[in-house]
Amino acid sequence: MQAVILVGGLGTRLRPITFDIPKALVPLRNEPFIGYMIDFLRAGGVDGVVLSMGYMPDPIQEYFAGREDLKDFPIHYAVEDRPLGTAGGIKNAERYLDGEPLVVVNGDVLTGTDLAKAVELHQSSDSLATITLTSVEDPTAYGLVEVDHDMLVRRFLEKPAADEVTTNLVNAGIYVLESEVLRSIPEDREVSIEREIFPDLQARGKLRAHISSSYWRDIGTPRSYLAASHDALSGAVGAPRKGFEYLDVNSSTECGKNVKILPPVSVAAGCEIGHSASIGGRTSLGNGCRVGEGAVVEGSILLDGAEIDSGAVVRGSIIGPGARVGQNAIVRGLSVLGARCVVGEGNVLDQGVRINPGVVVSPRSLSF
Ligand code: GTP
Repeated sequence: MQAVILVGGLGTRLRPITFDIPKALVPLRNEPFIGYMIDFLRAGGVDGVVLSMGYMPDPIQEYFAGREDLKDFPIHYAVEDRPLGTAGGIKNAERYLDGEPLVVVNGDVLTGTDLAKAVELHQSSDSLATITLTSVEDPTAYGLVEVDHDMLVRRFLEKPAADEVTTNLVNAGIYVLESEVLRSIPEDREVSIEREIFPDLQARGKLRAHISSSYWRDIGTPRSYLAASHDALSGAVGAPRKGFEYLDVNSSTECGKNVKILPPVSVAAGCEIGHSASIGGRTSLGNGCRVGEGAVVEGSILLDGAEIDSGAVVRGSIIGPGARVGQNAIVRGLSVLGARCVVGEGNVLDQGVRINPGVVVSPRSLSF
Protein backbone atom coordinates (compact mmCIF):
# COMPACT_ATOMS: atom_id res chain seq x y z
CA MET A 1 0.00 0.00 0.00
CA GLN A 2 1.27 3.49 -0.85
CA ALA A 3 1.04 6.61 1.29
CA VAL A 4 1.06 10.31 0.52
CA ILE A 5 2.77 12.42 3.17
CA LEU A 6 1.67 16.07 3.14
CA VAL A 7 4.71 18.21 3.89
CA GLY A 8 4.02 21.27 1.73
CA GLY A 9 2.68 23.69 4.37
CA LEU A 10 4.48 26.84 5.51
CA GLY A 11 4.35 25.87 9.18
CA THR A 12 3.49 29.45 10.18
CA ARG A 13 2.60 28.57 13.77
CA LEU A 14 6.10 27.23 14.33
CA ARG A 15 7.83 30.33 13.00
CA PRO A 16 10.54 31.53 13.25
CA ILE A 17 12.00 27.99 13.39
CA THR A 18 10.26 27.11 10.11
CA PHE A 19 11.83 30.07 8.31
CA ASP A 20 15.00 27.96 8.22
CA ILE A 21 13.85 24.38 8.75
CA PRO A 22 10.71 22.91 7.13
CA LYS A 23 8.40 21.43 9.78
CA ALA A 24 9.10 17.92 8.43
CA LEU A 25 12.78 18.29 9.39
CA VAL A 26 12.38 19.93 12.79
CA PRO A 27 14.35 17.65 15.09
CA LEU A 28 12.86 15.51 17.78
CA ARG A 29 15.43 13.88 20.02
CA ASN A 30 17.92 15.20 17.45
CA GLU A 31 16.41 13.25 14.57
CA PRO A 32 14.46 15.01 11.78
CA PHE A 33 10.76 14.57 12.46
CA ILE A 34 9.93 12.92 9.12
CA GLY A 35 12.04 9.91 10.20
CA TYR A 36 9.40 9.07 12.82
CA MET A 37 6.67 9.36 10.20
CA ILE A 38 8.43 6.91 7.88
CA ASP A 39 8.81 4.42 10.77
CA PHE A 40 5.11 4.78 11.59
CA LEU A 41 4.03 4.17 7.98
CA ARG A 42 6.33 1.19 7.46
CA ALA A 43 5.14 -0.39 10.72
CA GLY A 44 1.58 0.01 9.40
CA GLY A 45 2.31 -1.90 6.19
CA VAL A 46 3.04 1.00 3.80
CA ASP A 47 5.59 -0.03 1.17
CA GLY A 48 6.20 3.22 -0.68
CA VAL A 49 5.54 6.94 -0.21
CA VAL A 50 4.98 10.09 -2.22
CA LEU A 51 6.01 13.29 -0.51
CA SER A 52 3.59 16.06 -1.39
CA MET A 53 5.78 19.14 -1.15
CA GLY A 54 5.68 22.88 -1.67
CA TYR A 55 7.55 24.92 0.92
CA MET A 56 11.32 24.18 1.19
CA PRO A 57 11.35 20.84 -0.66
CA ASP A 58 15.14 20.69 -1.21
CA PRO A 59 16.32 20.02 2.35
CA ILE A 60 13.69 17.30 2.70
CA GLN A 61 14.91 15.59 -0.47
CA GLU A 62 18.50 15.93 0.75
CA TYR A 63 17.54 14.24 4.02
CA PHE A 64 16.14 11.26 2.14
CA ALA A 65 19.12 11.15 -0.22
CA GLY A 66 21.25 10.60 2.89
CA ARG A 67 19.07 7.78 4.25
CA GLU A 68 21.01 4.77 2.91
CA ASP A 69 18.73 2.43 4.83
CA LEU A 70 15.76 3.57 2.70
CA LYS A 71 17.35 2.94 -0.69
CA ASP A 72 15.02 -0.01 -1.37
CA PHE A 73 11.95 1.87 -0.13
CA PRO A 74 10.27 3.71 -3.04
CA ILE A 75 10.05 7.46 -2.40
CA HIS A 76 8.67 9.94 -4.94
CA TYR A 77 8.53 13.71 -4.73
CA ALA A 78 5.55 15.70 -6.03
CA VAL A 79 6.50 19.38 -5.74
CA GLU A 80 3.87 22.12 -6.14
CA ASP A 81 4.74 25.40 -7.78
CA ARG A 82 2.06 27.10 -5.63
CA PRO A 83 0.20 25.86 -2.52
CA LEU A 84 -2.54 23.43 -3.56
CA GLY A 85 -3.91 22.73 -0.08
CA THR A 86 -4.31 19.40 1.65
CA ALA A 87 -6.44 17.76 -1.08
CA GLY A 88 -4.77 19.57 -3.99
CA GLY A 89 -1.45 18.24 -2.69
CA ILE A 90 -2.77 14.66 -2.83
CA LYS A 91 -4.08 15.24 -6.36
CA ASN A 92 -0.67 16.51 -7.41
CA ALA A 93 0.84 13.20 -6.24
CA GLU A 94 -1.56 11.15 -8.39
CA ARG A 95 0.93 10.43 -11.18
CA TYR A 96 3.06 8.40 -8.73
CA LEU A 97 0.17 6.38 -7.31
CA ASP A 98 -0.91 2.90 -8.36
CA GLY A 99 -4.71 3.42 -8.43
CA GLU A 100 -5.23 1.27 -5.30
CA PRO A 101 -6.61 2.56 -1.96
CA LEU A 102 -3.99 4.70 -0.25
CA VAL A 103 -3.00 6.13 3.10
CA VAL A 104 -2.65 9.92 3.49
CA VAL A 105 -0.99 11.55 6.50
CA ASN A 106 -0.28 15.07 7.65
CA GLY A 107 3.50 15.24 7.86
CA ASP A 108 3.49 16.79 11.34
CA VAL A 109 1.82 14.02 13.32
CA LEU A 110 3.61 11.93 15.95
CA THR A 111 1.57 8.87 16.81
CA GLY A 112 1.50 5.26 17.87
CA THR A 113 -1.87 4.67 16.18
CA ASP A 114 -2.45 1.22 14.71
CA LEU A 115 -2.44 2.14 11.04
CA ALA A 116 -2.96 -1.45 9.87
CA LYS A 117 -6.15 -1.53 11.95
CA ALA A 118 -7.43 1.66 10.28
CA VAL A 119 -6.75 0.13 6.87
CA GLU A 120 -8.50 -3.10 7.87
CA LEU A 121 -11.55 -1.20 9.13
CA HIS A 122 -11.68 0.78 5.93
CA GLN A 123 -11.47 -2.31 3.75
CA SER A 124 -14.27 -4.04 5.63
CA SER A 125 -16.67 -1.11 5.03
CA ASP A 126 -18.30 0.43 1.99
CA SER A 127 -16.97 3.90 2.76
CA LEU A 128 -14.88 5.88 0.29
CA ALA A 129 -12.69 7.30 3.05
CA THR A 130 -11.82 6.47 6.65
CA ILE A 131 -10.53 9.19 8.91
CA THR A 132 -8.68 8.44 12.14
CA LEU A 133 -9.95 10.40 15.14
CA THR A 134 -8.24 10.98 18.43
CA SER A 135 -9.45 12.59 21.64
CA VAL A 136 -7.90 15.79 22.98
CA GLU A 137 -8.15 17.60 26.29
CA ASP A 138 -9.06 21.01 24.91
CA PRO A 139 -11.32 20.46 21.91
CA THR A 140 -11.91 24.19 21.34
CA ALA A 141 -8.58 24.54 19.53
CA TYR A 142 -9.40 21.87 16.93
CA GLY A 143 -11.83 20.80 14.24
CA LEU A 144 -14.16 18.34 15.96
CA VAL A 145 -15.76 15.31 14.32
CA GLU A 146 -19.03 13.80 15.51
CA VAL A 147 -19.70 10.15 14.71
CA ASP A 148 -22.75 7.89 15.07
CA HIS A 149 -22.92 4.34 16.46
CA ASP A 150 -21.91 2.83 13.12
CA MET A 151 -18.83 5.04 13.00
CA LEU A 152 -20.26 7.09 10.19
CA VAL A 153 -19.15 10.70 10.40
CA ARG A 154 -22.19 12.84 11.27
CA ARG A 155 -20.87 16.38 11.55
CA PHE A 156 -17.77 18.59 11.51
CA LEU A 157 -17.41 21.44 13.98
CA GLU A 158 -14.55 23.86 13.40
CA LYS A 159 -12.97 25.28 16.60
CA PRO A 160 -16.20 25.52 18.63
CA ALA A 161 -16.80 27.77 21.64
CA ALA A 162 -16.63 25.91 24.97
CA ASP A 163 -20.44 25.68 25.25
CA GLU A 164 -20.77 24.21 21.73
CA VAL A 165 -18.43 21.27 22.35
CA THR A 166 -20.30 18.00 21.76
CA THR A 167 -17.34 15.64 21.45
CA ASN A 168 -13.61 15.60 22.15
CA LEU A 169 -12.78 13.64 18.99
CA VAL A 170 -10.62 15.46 16.46
CA ASN A 171 -9.22 14.72 13.04
CA ALA A 172 -5.83 13.05 13.62
CA GLY A 173 -4.59 13.77 10.08
CA ILE A 174 -4.44 10.08 9.08
CA TYR A 175 -6.75 8.87 6.29
CA VAL A 176 -7.40 5.85 4.11
CA LEU A 177 -8.85 6.85 0.74
CA GLU A 178 -10.28 4.95 -2.20
CA SER A 179 -8.76 6.05 -5.50
CA GLU A 180 -12.22 7.31 -6.49
CA VAL A 181 -11.76 10.10 -3.94
CA LEU A 182 -8.47 11.03 -5.54
CA ARG A 183 -10.09 11.17 -8.96
CA SER A 184 -12.83 13.47 -7.64
CA ILE A 185 -10.39 16.16 -6.42
CA PRO A 186 -10.39 19.14 -8.81
CA GLU A 187 -7.08 19.72 -10.55
CA ASP A 188 -4.86 22.82 -10.59
CA ARG A 189 -6.47 24.74 -7.75
CA GLU A 190 -6.18 24.89 -4.00
CA VAL A 191 -8.48 22.30 -2.41
CA SER A 192 -8.81 21.47 1.28
CA ILE A 193 -9.56 17.86 2.20
CA GLU A 194 -10.99 18.95 5.57
CA ARG A 195 -13.25 21.72 4.25
CA GLU A 196 -14.28 20.46 0.79
CA ILE A 197 -13.74 16.74 0.24
CA PHE A 198 -14.70 15.30 3.64
CA PRO A 199 -17.94 17.33 4.09
CA ASP A 200 -19.04 16.12 0.65
CA LEU A 201 -18.28 12.45 1.49
CA GLN A 202 -20.01 12.89 4.85
CA ALA A 203 -23.16 14.23 3.17
CA ARG A 204 -23.18 11.14 0.92
CA GLY A 205 -22.76 8.79 3.94
CA LYS A 206 -19.40 7.60 2.61
CA LEU A 207 -17.06 8.81 5.34
CA ARG A 208 -16.27 6.55 8.26
CA ALA A 209 -14.17 7.03 11.39
CA HIS A 210 -11.51 4.94 13.07
CA ILE A 211 -11.13 6.02 16.68
CA SER A 212 -7.65 5.66 18.10
CA SER A 213 -6.76 5.79 21.77
CA SER A 214 -3.02 5.54 21.09
CA TYR A 215 -0.51 8.31 21.57
CA TRP A 216 -1.12 11.24 19.22
CA ARG A 217 0.24 14.74 18.95
CA ASP A 218 1.04 17.16 16.15
CA ILE A 219 4.18 19.26 16.34
CA GLY A 220 2.67 22.35 14.75
CA THR A 221 2.97 24.86 17.63
CA PRO A 222 5.79 25.66 20.07
CA ARG A 223 3.78 24.14 22.90
CA SER A 224 3.02 20.88 21.09
CA TYR A 225 6.56 20.65 19.69
CA LEU A 226 8.01 20.95 23.21
CA ALA A 227 5.53 18.36 24.49
CA ALA A 228 6.36 15.96 21.65
CA SER A 229 10.07 16.41 22.36
CA HIS A 230 9.48 15.59 26.01
CA ASP A 231 7.49 12.48 25.08
CA ALA A 232 10.14 11.25 22.64
CA LEU A 233 12.92 11.86 25.19
CA SER A 234 11.03 10.03 27.91
CA GLY A 235 10.52 7.04 25.62
CA ALA A 236 6.74 7.38 25.50
CA VAL A 237 6.83 7.32 21.71
CA GLY A 238 9.28 6.51 18.90
CA ALA A 239 12.53 4.57 19.22
CA PRO A 240 15.91 6.22 18.57
CA ARG A 241 17.52 5.22 15.27
CA LYS A 242 21.11 4.02 14.95
CA GLY A 243 23.32 7.07 14.61
CA PHE A 244 20.92 9.17 16.65
CA GLU A 245 21.69 7.66 20.01
CA TYR A 246 22.61 10.14 22.66
CA LEU A 247 24.44 10.05 25.89
CA ASP A 248 22.18 9.71 28.88
CA VAL A 249 23.59 11.86 31.65
CA ASN A 250 20.91 10.97 34.15
CA SER A 251 23.50 10.14 36.72
CA SER A 252 25.37 13.43 36.46
CA THR A 253 24.55 15.76 39.30
CA GLU A 254 26.00 18.69 37.39
CA CYS A 255 23.51 18.29 34.60
CA GLY A 256 20.39 17.63 36.60
CA LYS A 257 18.01 14.78 35.94
CA ASN A 258 16.70 13.14 32.81
CA VAL A 259 18.91 14.98 30.37
CA LYS A 260 19.92 13.23 27.19
CA ILE A 261 22.76 14.82 25.31
CA LEU A 262 23.96 14.03 21.83
CA PRO A 263 27.69 14.76 21.71
CA PRO A 264 29.43 16.95 20.86
CA VAL A 265 28.03 19.60 23.14
CA SER A 266 29.77 21.67 25.71
CA VAL A 267 28.28 22.06 29.15
CA ALA A 268 30.17 24.19 31.65
CA ALA A 269 30.52 23.35 35.31
CA GLY A 270 27.82 24.54 37.63
CA CYS A 271 25.08 24.89 35.06
CA GLU A 272 21.75 23.18 35.46
CA ILE A 273 20.10 21.40 32.59
CA GLY A 274 16.99 19.51 33.26
CA HIS A 275 13.40 18.85 33.53
CA SER A 276 10.68 21.36 34.08
CA ALA A 277 7.48 20.25 35.70
CA SER A 278 5.47 22.94 33.95
CA ILE A 279 5.68 23.59 30.22
CA GLY A 280 8.31 21.88 28.14
CA GLY A 281 9.21 18.88 30.28
CA ARG A 282 12.58 17.40 29.35
CA THR A 283 15.36 19.27 27.63
CA SER A 284 17.09 18.36 24.40
CA LEU A 285 20.43 19.78 23.26
CA GLY A 286 21.39 19.57 19.59
CA ASN A 287 24.78 19.06 18.06
CA GLY A 288 27.43 21.61 18.95
CA CYS A 289 25.39 23.44 21.61
CA ARG A 290 27.22 25.28 24.33
CA VAL A 291 25.87 26.01 27.80
CA GLY A 292 27.94 28.40 29.92
CA GLU A 293 28.77 28.43 33.59
CA GLY A 294 25.87 28.79 35.97
CA ALA A 295 23.27 28.81 33.18
CA VAL A 296 19.92 27.08 33.69
CA VAL A 297 18.16 25.26 30.83
CA GLU A 298 14.90 23.51 31.61
CA GLY A 299 12.04 22.03 29.56
CA SER A 300 13.47 23.42 26.35
CA ILE A 301 14.79 22.50 22.94
CA LEU A 302 18.18 23.85 21.86
CA LEU A 303 18.71 23.27 18.15
CA ASP A 304 22.15 22.61 16.67
CA GLY A 305 24.81 25.12 17.60
CA ALA A 306 22.66 27.13 20.05
CA GLU A 307 24.67 28.90 22.73
CA ILE A 308 23.59 29.86 26.21
CA ASP A 309 25.99 32.21 27.93
CA SER A 310 26.89 32.08 31.60
CA GLY A 311 24.18 32.90 34.07
CA ALA A 312 21.40 32.86 31.45
CA VAL A 313 18.10 31.08 32.06
CA VAL A 314 16.10 29.25 29.36
CA ARG A 315 12.79 27.68 30.40
CA GLY A 316 10.01 26.15 28.30
CA SER A 317 11.37 27.72 25.12
CA ILE A 318 12.89 26.84 21.74
CA ILE A 319 16.30 28.20 20.76
CA GLY A 320 16.93 28.07 17.01
CA PRO A 321 20.07 26.77 15.31
CA GLY A 322 23.12 28.91 16.03
CA ALA A 323 21.11 31.37 18.15
CA ARG A 324 22.70 32.84 21.24
CA VAL A 325 21.27 33.84 24.61
CA GLY A 326 23.58 36.37 26.24
CA GLN A 327 24.90 36.47 29.76
CA ASN A 328 22.22 36.63 32.47
CA ALA A 329 19.42 36.94 29.88
CA ILE A 330 16.15 35.11 30.54
CA VAL A 331 14.13 33.36 27.82
CA ARG A 332 11.00 31.63 29.05
CA GLY A 333 7.26 31.09 28.60
CA LEU A 334 7.16 29.39 25.17
CA SER A 335 9.42 31.96 23.57
CA VAL A 336 11.03 31.01 20.27
CA LEU A 337 14.34 32.32 18.93
CA GLY A 338 14.99 32.04 15.19
CA ALA A 339 18.22 30.77 13.70
CA ARG A 340 21.38 32.77 14.43
CA CYS A 341 19.64 35.52 16.41
CA VAL A 342 21.33 37.01 19.43
CA VAL A 343 19.63 38.07 22.63
CA GLY A 344 21.97 40.50 24.30
CA GLU A 345 22.99 40.37 27.93
CA GLY A 346 20.32 40.88 30.57
CA ASN A 347 17.20 40.85 28.33
CA VAL A 348 14.03 39.13 29.53
CA LEU A 349 11.85 37.38 26.94
CA ASP A 350 8.58 35.87 28.12
CA GLN A 351 4.98 35.12 27.05
CA GLY A 352 5.69 33.49 23.71
CA VAL A 353 7.94 36.19 22.29
CA ARG A 354 9.36 35.23 18.90
CA ILE A 355 12.58 36.70 17.54
CA ASN A 356 13.17 36.38 13.80
CA PRO A 357 16.28 34.72 12.36
CA GLY A 358 19.43 36.78 12.47
CA VAL A 359 17.98 39.57 14.64
CA VAL A 360 20.36 40.98 17.21
CA VAL A 361 18.70 42.36 20.35
CA SER A 362 21.05 44.74 22.09
CA PRO A 363 21.83 44.25 25.78
CA ARG A 364 19.01 45.07 28.23
CA SER A 365 16.69 46.53 25.58
CA LEU A 366 13.81 44.06 25.89
CA SER A 367 11.74 43.06 28.86
CA PHE A 368 8.49 41.13 28.48
P1 GTP B 1 0.50 26.27 9.87
O1 GTP B 1 0.85 27.30 8.83
O2 GTP B 1 1.19 26.52 11.14
O3 GTP B 1 -0.98 26.07 10.01
O4 GTP B 1 1.13 24.86 9.41
P2 GTP B 1 0.97 24.06 8.03
O5 GTP B 1 1.36 24.93 6.90
O6 GTP B 1 1.77 22.81 8.16
O7 GTP B 1 -0.56 23.76 7.94
P3 GTP B 1 -1.38 22.57 8.62
O8 GTP B 1 -0.75 22.19 9.91
O9 GTP B 1 -2.79 22.92 8.61
O10 GTP B 1 -1.18 21.43 7.54
C1 GTP B 1 -1.40 20.07 7.80
C2 GTP B 1 -0.45 19.25 6.92
O11 GTP B 1 -0.71 19.53 5.54
C3 GTP B 1 1.00 19.61 7.16
O12 GTP B 1 1.75 18.42 7.16
C4 GTP B 1 1.36 20.52 5.99
O13 GTP B 1 2.72 20.41 5.60
C5 GTP B 1 0.45 20.02 4.89
N1 GTP B 1 0.02 21.09 3.98
C6 GTP B 1 -0.65 22.23 4.31
N2 GTP B 1 -0.89 22.96 3.21
C7 GTP B 1 -0.35 22.27 2.17
C8 GTP B 1 -0.28 22.53 0.76
O14 GTP B 1 -0.72 23.54 0.23
N3 GTP B 1 0.35 21.58 -0.01
C9 GTP B 1 0.89 20.43 0.54
N4 GTP B 1 1.47 19.57 -0.29
N5 GTP B 1 0.83 20.17 1.85
C10 GTP B 1 0.22 21.08 2.65
